[in-house]
Amino acid sequence: MLDIQGLTKTFYGRAWLRDVSLSIAKGEVVGLIGRSGAGKSTLARCLTGLETADTGTITLNSETITPGRGAARQQMQYLWQDPTQSLSPYLTAQNTVLETLNGFGIGPRAQRLKQARSLLATFDLPQDSFTRRTHALSGGQCQRVALARALAAEPQVLILDEPLSSLDLAAQLSTIRLLQDIHRKRATTMLIVSHDLAPLRHLAHRIVVLDDARIVEDLPMSCFATQAQNPLSRAYAQTLQTDQAEAASLSAHRETEPATGGA
Ligand SMILES: Nc1ncnc2c1ncn2[C@@H]1O[C@H](COP(=O)(O)OP(=O)(O)O)[C@@H](O)[C@H]1O
Ligand SMILES: [Mg+2]
Repeated sequence: MLDIQGLTKTFYGRAWLRDVSLSIAKGEVVGLIGRSGAGKSTLARCLTGLETADTGTITLNSETITPGRGAARQQMQYLWQDPTQSLSPYLTAQNTVLETLNGFGIGPRAQRLKQARSLLATFDLPQDSFTRRTHALSGGQCQRVALARALAAEPQVLILDEPLSSLDLAAQLSTIRLLQDIHRKRATTMLIVSHDLAPLRHLAHRIVVLDDARIVEDLPMSCFATQAQNPLSRAYAQTLQTDQAEAASLSAHRETEPATGGA
């Protein structure tokens, strides 16, 4: 469905993406991981027209697209690493979503405000937050508004840049559930950027590792731990085992804890 071929991007003479090729099937969720500064956001931005690749072609449903231009502006939506920075502080939550519906002419004009509000409601935002400006919302709520705005465009591909990294643990868990829910209901194709493999275990079908400007591993999530070959990928796989061991020891610990009564 989405096909990236030979993407290269250089900043000040240094290549941050070198001949990057990647295909994503319709409805597939791909996790893109790599060290900080590896070029993950650069790749995500090249796909959405926020950066322009030096070379390479991007096709969506077999048609070559120019990211950020024409139909591609609607078809590929990008969720910024820090959603608070991508939302206008002058707009309320509902007007943020409404702006996208108006911009792309989605749904009958008279119904759009209702549509914006119902989209926010499906993302568990409280009614009283709809008319608040986004600077008065929490980080987790801002992210839900940004997600609602991105999905209001009815995109074919959703690109999420480190959607968990600016959130506390509780907000991370609810975002994972929300993304699972979105995928269950809409089967949206997603590329999720992360510097951490563990949270992707519950979300991604496939893991792609970016290192030294190249894709060094591309494996189904289910066999990543056993089949990853590249040293960096192995290090990521190791964190998965440590994470599982910690979770197991935590639950064993809980089982041996004396009952404290109450809830
Ligand atoms: N617009 C830009 N101009 C110059 N350098 C940039 C620009 N955007 C990113 N870079 C550099 O490219 C490298 C990769 O950045 P980035 O893609 O943000 O990494 P990641 O998301 O993997 O942490 C970084 O060293 C960053 O400083
Ligand atoms: Mg980044």
